[in-house]
Amino acid sequence: MSIQSCVTIINEWDIVAARQLGRNVAKELGFGTVDQARITTAISELARNIYLYAGKGQICIDKLYEDGKEGLRINAADNGPGISDIRQVMEDGFSTSGGLGAGLPGVKRLMDQFEIESSPGNGTQIKATKWLR
Ligand SMILES: Nc1ncnc2c1ncn2[C@@H]1O[C@H](COP(=O)(O)OP(=O)(O)OP(=O)(O)O)[C@@H](O)[C@H]1O
Ligand SMILES: [Mg+2]
Repeated sequence: MSIQSCVTIINEWDIVAARQLGRNVAKELGFGTVDQARITTAISELARNIYLYAGKGQICIDKLYEDGKEGLRINAADNGPGISDIRQVMEDGFSTSGGLGAGLPGVKRLMDQFEIESSPGNGTQIKATKWLR
């Protein structure tokens, strides 16, 4: 079972709104302040990537209830240019925009589970999950 709410990312203010949504859901689920910060940082990085590379997309936050476990899943989706070499963008320091290239590897480290689906022409879908313990 999951309950979802979404923010459309078009401008920089939407990144702030997505962070706020994530923080609220994380609080509701009972995540501590350190995990709340990890979750909102991950949301910022994914939302900023949508804004920079795809121009437009969506961040949805799911509450998960699975096998007696509770968790939060960030779903980031866009119909932008997509990524041709996923292994490359998951390396620390790889950036096509002169950035630090720390965003995606950082999100993977901050969350418990990380899945990325992307290919040129099909946009990018990323799911990042954190379980409550
Ligand atoms: N949603 C996306 N659509 C298309 N390409 C993307 C998307 N997200 C990331 N990328 C590609 O992956 C690369 C790595 O992303 P990552 O967030 O790790 O680093 P960065 O955005 O370049 O720098 P930083 O996030 O550290 O400021 C980007 O430079 C970009 O080429
Ligand atoms: Mg980035």
